[in-house]
Amino acid sequence: MLSDRERRLIEEFGLEPIEKNIFKIPHKFVDRGIFIAVRGKDDFVNMLEGEPFYILTGIMPSYKLIHLGTYAVVESVKYFQQISKITIIAIADIESLSTRNVSLEEAKEFSIKYHIPTYLALGLDPDKTLFYYQSDNPDILKIAGDVARKTTFNELKAVYGDIDPARIISSLIQIGDILFPQFAISVKGLVPIGLDQDPHLRLCRDYIRRTKMFNFKQVSSIYIRLIPGLDGSEKMSKSDPLNSIFLPEEDYKILKRKIWRAFSGGRPTVEEHRKYGANLEVDVPFRILTYILDDNSYLSELAEKYSKGELLSGEIKMITYEVLVEFMDKFKENLEYYRDMVMNKRINLIRSSEDILSYI
Ligand code: TRP
Repeated sequence: MLSDRERRLIEEFGLEPIEKNIFKIPHKFVDRGIFIAVRGKDDFVNMLEGEPFYILTGIMPSYKLIHLGTYAVVESVKYFQQISKITIIAIADIESLSTRNVSLEEAKEFSIKYHIPTYLALGLDPDKTLFYYQSDNPDILKIAGDVARKTTFNELKAVYGDIDPARIISSLIQIGDILFPQFAISVKGLVPIGLDQDPHLRLCRDYIRRTKMFNFKQVSSIYIRLIPGLDGSEKMSKSDPLNSIFLPEEDYKILKRKIWRAFSGGRPTVEEHRKYGANLEVDVPFRILTYILDDNSYLSELAEKYSKGELLSGEIKMITYEVLVEFMDKFKENLEYYRDMVMNKRINLIRSSEDILSYI
């Protein structure tokens, strides 16, 4: 079930809803409604049915640690990667520079230690996944230049509301990110993102229709429901450490404390809870379980017992904590492995569209 806010945004942005039966390959995210909407649905359906496409998404290396919300995006990329030609991850160091005042050196350090190994440790296919830094890639600048030419200030204001130079450069460059793979492979693109990134996609799709400078094919975007902040707010945020679960959490005592303080959908007294049951939609530990737990029947069993009041809030928290510890243990092991790979430069780091050609 979507929150009121999610429903309002989907409607306001004019996104299309998704029926579960369009997905051919099963996945827990399909079952649990985590793919909440799509832009460019006809193309998206064709991709699911076998039309070739590339995946592109990006991350700002603005803070050393990545939080659990990113897991939702990476797990989705991993799902679509099974049927895509190639997956490209933009490390948005120019965006972090202009919007967060993070130096390029710092951004690179965060990326090598955390962002790139994390994406691989969460299960992306290391052979089919290419990474690049915005600051390395001249192709995105060529596109940004053309976007600037074909976009008016009023359009930017209409799409973004508040607009300033940092946002303008980031948005033009992001369109460069989304489209530059087409200089190498002339197929449509799929961009998995959270709802907050939709303005970029609207602008990008309009630009594709308008430009005659390049012959771009259209891109679709698939929207992933993000994990809420621990206090029940819209999403986890790196600028609010106590409100987020990081990948990894090093100290499990702190992890436990975070889960115990998380917003609960349980009732104030045991008596009331046994009588009315929990509200699962607002229960943050339960929401986390819907992303992490693999076993569908165990999740349904928990949902039923918790919503009937047979399980207490503390019991759900304990289960969530244990599931997260298992998840973190495995993640940390993978992270070490891929850190070594990144350090030894054995990952696919590209610098332009031309480099893509050697991977397809
Ligand atoms: N703007 C995105 C963010 O704030 C990062 C990003 C950069 C991105 N380029 C992209 C996302 C291309 C999707 C596609 O997190």
